[in-house]
Amino acid sequence: MANLDPTYSIGIPEMDAQHARWIQLIERFRAAASDHMLEQAGLDAAAHALEKLLEYTQCHFTSEERFLADRHYPGIDDHRRAHRELEAKVVALLGEIRAHKTNTTPLKLNLFVTVWLMEHIMQEDAAYASFVLGKR
Ligand SMILES: [Fe+2]
Ligand SMILES: [Fe+2]
Repeated sequence: MANLDPTYSIGIPEMDAQHARWIQLIERFRAAASDHMLEQAGLDAAAHALEKLLEYTQCHFTSEERFLADRHYPGIDDHRRAHRELEAKVVALLGEIRAHKTNTTPLKLNLFVTVWLMEHIMQEDAAYASFVLGKR
């Protein structure tokens, strides 16, 4: 299992474990996306890494939403909406990579999407953790 940078721990082991795996896939995509983006092989590697990330993102969000529903988290609707928005951003980025042709211009990826995923843990996820852990 991936180790979680303590900065990203929300204090709920079950979710921390999923976030560790998620961050690992985010980092793999970032690495793939900063390499050889002028070549088809580089684009394919980035698209593949992002497909893996998207798949795990959907899996984590489903699991987290079930976790929040079970605990009657009052902010669940907003949280679900934030998840759908993030998913849409990842899907859009994947579309950009797939549509790109290397014989034109280098693809400038919006890696900010990966920053928003990490920020989601620090903000929205940390907010439900305070509720779940009874800190407010
Ligand atoms: Fe999460
Ligand atoms: Fe979340």
